[in-house]
Amino acid sequence: MLKTVSKSKPLTGEITIPADKSVSHRAVMLASLAKGKCIISNFSSGADCWSTLNIFKQLGVQINETDKKTIEIYSDGTLKKSNTPLDAGNSGTTTRLLSGILAGQNFDSEIIGDESLSKRPMKRILIPLTQMGAKIDSVDNHLPLTIYGQKLHGIVYPMPIASAQVKSCILLAGLNAEGQTTVIEPAQSRNHTELMLKYLGANILTYNNEITIYPSELEAKDIKIVGDISSAAFFIVAGLIVPDSDFVIKNVGINPTRTGILDIVKRMGAGAGVNVFNKRIVSGEECADIRVQYTDNLKGCVIEGADIPRLIDELPVIAVLASQAEGETVVKNAEDLRNKESDRIKCLVAELRKIGVDIEETPDGFIITGKTKLSPTTDIPLESYHDHRLAMSFYIAGLICEKEIAINGFEWTKISFPEFEALVSELNG
Ligand code: S3P
Repeated sequence: MLKTVSKSKPLTGEITIPADKSVSHRAVMLASLAKGKCIISNFSSGADCWSTLNIFKQLGVQINETDKKTIEIYSDGTLKKSNTPLDAGNSGTTTRLLSGILAGQNFDSEIIGDESLSKRPMKRILIPLTQMGAKIDSVDNHLPLTIYGQKLHGIVYPMPIASAQVKSCILLAGLNAEGQTTVIEPAQSRNHTELMLKYLGANILTYNNEITIYPSELEAKDIKIVGDISSAAFFIVAGLIVPDSDFVIKNVGINPTRTGILDIVKRMGAGAGVNVFNKRIVSGEECADIRVQYTDNLKGCVIEGADIPRLIDELPVIAVLASQAEGETVVKNAEDLRNKESDRIKCLVAELRKIGVDIEETPDGFIITGKTKLSPTTDIPLESYHDHRLAMSFYIAGLICEKEIAINGFEWTKISFPEFEALVSELNG
């Protein structure tokens, strides 16, 4: 689907950001493993989270949707074999976390996915799971995965890359393995799995970047899902770059392992344009409201090392922000961006150049030199490469382009944020 976007007037008013995708996945998975009834409220409407939900129905868990945002899960804490393959659609999080859960069951399973997911690397989970005693067939370390349920045993696993999906996969396998399982992260990645496991009563300990889990039974407990800071990031950037904008984003999860975007805004000298207030805790997760105001004094900065896992999904829209900052913004150590829904380094560089961004590809990131007035340099639409975050980042860039731009494949936004365009319209009044 081709979407056109034109220059925006100031964005004003108030929006409520929909549910966090990472937390929604984990809520369905952990509620399915817990004994009893759990009501999940404010569940994500993103297609990825519905892939997870449908898979757990297939695994014999009783799941009722009271409405699209309220999900009731009744489980005896066990899963049952599915006679048909489990379709993870486009979702890497579903595939990797689910593999950890299924590896230790007393039945076999098969996980399949769409074309894009089938190209994404699974070796990163196959190595630790195999060390735990798992038996999994893959197609050259890619989907489909055939998982032959086995008795697993705990391991100590120093992770070669900071990845919440890999960490969570191992911890979920550890929940049902003999002995203790420890993962050591090179830098801290999002810790929603650890927080939710603790919230539901698992025996799990965190010490710096080392997490240890013991076999545990989970107790069902209601879970309210906070808003997604990765979705809010599009609006944070829009508010900072669309002249005279001033609005409030309500209900944003501000778990410190996810707030890299807020630190970068400060580093770029625009801290005064982003005010976090009304902080509270919701089902074990920090949450707040955020006021965003336009600022015209952004400066380039370096984004590297431990920053990266705390803003990995926000880098495409941070690139748009950097195009409006004076001087160089250098993103380093982000090579894993090449393994997302698209090669986000290569694709960002190719497409942002079409609207005049001065961006250079490096092996592990990119360098942007600003500040640039954005305007289409070609009639060829920007391509989203079936990647929801690229599509939405280009849309935000379109809000400040001198002339209308067109984005191909905009329908992929449904993967994480079907409400995106309606919320932009709300702020456009
Ligand atoms: C996620 C972890 C990150 C992130 C993805 C969601 C999660 O992936 O990019 O969108 O929910 O655990 P990696 O673990 O591959 O970094």
